[in-house]
Amino acid sequence: MDYFPVFLDLKNRLCLLVGGGDIATRKGRLLSKAGARLRVVAPDISAELRELVAQNNGELLEREYHSSDINDCVIVVAATDIEPLNEQISHDAKAKNIPVNVVDSPALCTYITPAIIDRSPLVIAISSGGESPVLARLIRAKLETLIPTSYGRLAQIASSWRDRVKARFDDGDSRRRFWEKILQGPVAELVLNGQEEAAEKIIASEIAQEDQSITQGEVYLVGGGPGDPELLTLRALRLMQQADVVLYDRLVSDGVMELVRRDAERIYVGKRRSEHAMQQENINQLLVDLAKQGKRVLRLKGGDPFIFGRGGEEIELLAQNNIPFQVVPGITAASGCAAYAGIPLTHRDYAQSVRFVTGHLKSDESNLQWPELANPTQTIVFYMGLVGLRDICESLVAHGRAATTPVALIERGTTQQQRVLIADLATIADVVASQEVHAPTLFIVGDVVKLHENLKWFKSGLEVI
Ligand SMILES: C[S@@+](CC[C@H](N)C(=O)[O-])C[C@H]1O[C@@H](n2cnc3c(N)ncnc32)[C@H](O)[C@@H]1O
Repeated sequence: MDYFPVFLDLKNRLCLLVGGGDIATRKGRLLSKAGARLRVVAPDISAELRELVAQNNGELLEREYHSSDINDCVIVVAATDIEPLNEQISHDAKAKNIPVNVVDSPALCTYITPAIIDRSPLVIAISSGGESPVLARLIRAKLETLIPTSYGRLAQIASSWRDRVKARFDDGDSRRRFWEKILQGPVAELVLNGQEEAAEKIIASEIAQEDQSITQGEVYLVGGGPGDPELLTLRALRLMQQADVVLYDRLVSDGVMELVRRDAERIYVGKRRSEHAMQQENINQLLVDLAKQGKRVLRLKGGDPFIFGRGGEEIELLAQNNIPFQVVPGITAASGCAAYAGIPLTHRDYAQSVRFVTGHLKSDESNLQWPELANPTQTIVFYMGLVGLRDICESLVAHGRAATTPVALIERGTTQQQRVLIADLATIADVVASQEVHAPTLFIVGDVVKLHENLKWFKSGLEVI
């Protein structure tokens, strides 16, 4: 390790900033955020820096630098573009053992400044030891997306309970275990969802609890999207990384499963059209049982959990059992497939509305509202319709939809195996019958399908027909 990381308390302490341009202003902004009093020295000083100096009772010295400017300062920042001046400032500070940073000149520095993620009071600093500041900034950008802004609020709430927790647990180990439980469980999730009152109630009841081994579990009902893992939401990814156990079904792609925490227990719960690894009632009950054991349970479903996903049924039993849960939407197959096939679902010239319909017809009877589906200005997306494809197309035509209405059948949409078959209501069933088609598939009916020819952009590993 080339540098020792520390966090300095600069509140109301004098810091010397030499320079008055853009870079100096940026440095001044950061120092002020940490509560420093600025002594700014430069012949020309930006308006923002002047304002910062005035705000925190600092000193404005509009002239050339003098060696004595360093006196009484706890740190020094040189942000001028005059090399000999930077060297002199560095030399003066070193002679007085005052930490000095010269912007973009690591050799003249006795300390360097990291890339920062500010979720005050939580602050994360990343440094490449001056070797590659751009890499440090890229890592910061990645972490920024993973650490919700409300983590700062979580840290503030934890701090407000610190003394009470200290009074309740007299040894460090049990305090640590208590905080781990609080900061990784439902309390953290409630704070991140803005439900602070409910979160504080749980902290109070956990402190009062005699047997500290009993913990409250929770369930995350998460939409895993149509296949491409890059279509996950940030919240989905965060919960996938913290779950203890995951219940997933067939539609969740391997790429998405790769992103679940490595050591989480994985339970496959089905389901194919005719084969169910586990009955729905048993899945519902298992979620309750695992949460009651204190586990953070991820229920990961393909697409969106509230669109043909039976997500509602799964959380009903949780609600009855007072188990905390949250629902994270995912990109539903219709949106994902349409986007990756270059087929806008609505379009001013072709379709003024869109309808998502299940093609899984009960007892093979035609039980859809066919007359409503015949409207030529409406796009229809059929989920689970492969088996009933021929019947569906015939019924649409019988109820007045033109036999020449274009149809796109999208197979394994958004993945590297995506394939798009284009035909019309009269011919699609024969086209599909002549191919080997792999689930999952959906089909889009309507004039918007004509746009595919010009708007297709996604190239999967397979040839687009
Ligand atoms: C039980 S539904 C679940 C839908 C899911 N909740 C959603 O919002 O996408 C399953 C159907 O979704 C469609 N589907 C899901 N993922 C798909 C994909 N990657 N490509 C094509 N169709 C897909 C198929 O029609 C499949 O039969």
